Amino acid sequence: MTPYGTMRTHGAGTLRATHTDETVTLAGWVAKRRDHGGVVFLDLRDRSGTCQVVANPEGNDAVAAAHDVRSEYVIKVTGTVRMRPVGMRNDQLDTGDIEVEAQHLEILSAAQTPPFLVEDGIDTDETIRLKHRYVDLRRPELAKRIQTRAKVTSVMRQVLEANGFLDIETPMLARSTPEGARDFLVPSRLQPGEFYALPQSPQLFKQLLMVAGLERYYQIARCFRDEDLRADRQPEFSQLDIEASFISDEDMYALNEEIMAALWREVLGQELSTPFPRMTYAESMRRFGTDKPDVRFGMELVDLTERLAGTEVGVFRGAIDAGGSVIAICAPDGGTMTRKQFDGWVDFAKARGAKGLAWGVVETNGSLRSPLSKFMSPDEIVAIVEACAAKPGDAIFFGAGETTVTQALMGAVRNAMGAELGLIPDDQWAFLWITDWPLFEWNADDNRWEALHHPFTRPVEPGATFAEHPGEALGICYDLVLNGVELGSGSLRIHDAQQQEAVFTTLGISPEVAQERFDFFLRGLSYGTPPHGGIGLGLDRLVMLMVGASSIRDVIAFPKTKSGDDPMSSAPSPVDHAQLTDLGLRTLPQTK
Ligand code: AMO
Ligand code: AMP
Repeated sequence: MTPYGTMRTHGAGTLRATHTDETVTLAGWVAKRRDHGGVVFLDLRDRSGTCQVVANPEGNDAVAAAHDVRSEYVIKVTGTVRMRPVGMRNDQLDTGDIEVEAQHLEILSAAQTPPFLVEDGIDTDETIRLKHRYVDLRRPELAKRIQTRAKVTSVMRQVLEANGFLDIETPMLARSTPEGARDFLVPSRLQPGEFYALPQSPQLFKQLLMVAGLERYYQIARCFRDEDLRADRQPEFSQLDIEASFISDEDMYALNEEIMAALWREVLGQELSTPFPRMTYAESMRRFGTDKPDVRFGMELVDLTERLAGTEVGVFRGAIDAGGSVIAICAPDGGTMTRKQFDGWVDFAKARGAKGLAWGVVETNGSLRSPLSKFMSPDEIVAIVEACAAKPGDAIFFGAGETTVTQALMGAVRNAMGAELGLIPDDQWAFLWITDWPLFEWNADDNRWEALHHPFTRPVEPGATFAEHPGEALGICYDLVLNGVELGSGSLRIHDAQQQEAVFTTLGISPEVAQERFDFFLRGLSYGTPPHGGIGLGLDRLVMLMVGASSIRDVIAFPKTKSGDDPMSSAPSPVDHAQLTDLGLRTLPQTK
């Protein structure tokens, strides 16, 4: 096919001074129309960009048609490229040196007045934009993001195919996979009363492809999770899903770094430095209070528990006596905050379930101005200020309570405060691998151990028995974090039946229950499983970060709102009674 189709000779955005005097035919949408008493100027937009068209009354019929066109009409123009008069050039526009003098102008299709201006930087309500997403997607900013996304998947495919990976599809109508979110269910008509689950990820299928001997698999896989939505979560999203046999975790680090380096080089024109740094989960929690730390700025967590062993501050004393911790962060020059701002941070902590947040400001003489300082000894204050490496004018914030809860709280305070204080540089790509994840996590509500990733993750210790201290067992897991966002998550998997059984035992899953829940998968593993492992990378989040968008909705052609609906097609929607009957279903009365 010709690059622009037989109806056109060029893309509107591709014309330059070098095309001067050429006769060209363009087709696209009218972005703007200015009528200067006879002469009509049109901005013509297509996927490649925008170009100015002039319809002059002299010598042709284009101007009559140009008078009739309105915004977003689709037109076809034949004309001559000429330099714009000096002084009329627009260096904001790639095509700003030239214009096309129209000889013929044909209206291909008329358009209703668009519901909002088709230009960047509009503040139209997102629901209105989503309702008319086809118009929204014409806005250059959004169009470019969708084009970048296509480039990203293309580069991914190139790297993976060069490494011998095969693109293999796995079913959408499947059985529930254990990723931990709620399933979207699809009723079966042929087996009334039974349901498919849309895959939360292709996890079990990709592992079975390894059993099948296909060795290297990838897929740009659609995943479905019925969970609460936010800026970086959609009910359906895409993963670059990868699995490989006869590899080690080092192979996975290298492959993913190769993919990221190629993406940054070919899509953003930037060189990344590899290998990416690595940090254990334990260190990440201790220093940043999160498993996805943003390491572009400091303000690290400081554990003061030992230094405050003799504290008489009630809230600290209580936490330490209960076996918890006192954890601080130091806000550089935070002393300039107003009382209202300090109270704001206390409210921030309380909104996250903390009982409070203590604070103090370091004074010129090294003392601490704080509602709590009267309960602190001079030695304690010196120790605190020193541990936090705080200088006069800095503010220190203290959280006290159960250790992991307080780490998480202070991690959240750190992120929000770092952003508020403008400490997070926006021109850095801070990639980081988080390694050595705990295999198990204690679920206090249900009084049992749960798999932190999934029950097929390979333990670090080969012959490990976790019976005594499941909490200390580590898995060969790796998460890829970029600028504080979890991009992807993967692990080596168990390929040994005994090890699998040991994990199930710790999880309280009896052989019978394991058979019932994972029968097809476990049967598969029993037919000769190669050592294997893989990763799932969140494609939407990756593209969001690459293009600098603030929500994954901005890099998905047809996303859902925060309440999970599509204002354009009005999905989800009620269905006919007959359709339900076919499926053997009846709905309960709904309370809104
Ligand atoms: P996990 O559940 O961690 O791992 O998912 C992998 C990555 O997918 C992205 N992601 C999402 N993106 C948008 N909206 C969502 N609702 C959403 N949920 C997850 C994240 C996340 O890091 N099967 C394993 C991978 C493996 O072990 O190979 C899995 O799905 O970026
Ligand atoms: P209270 O003793 O509850 O009046 O709290 C005294 C001060 O300590 C207040 O500034 C609270 O915000 C703060 N505070 C209360 N609970 C905690 C906690 N768990 N961690 C840190 N500070 C707290």
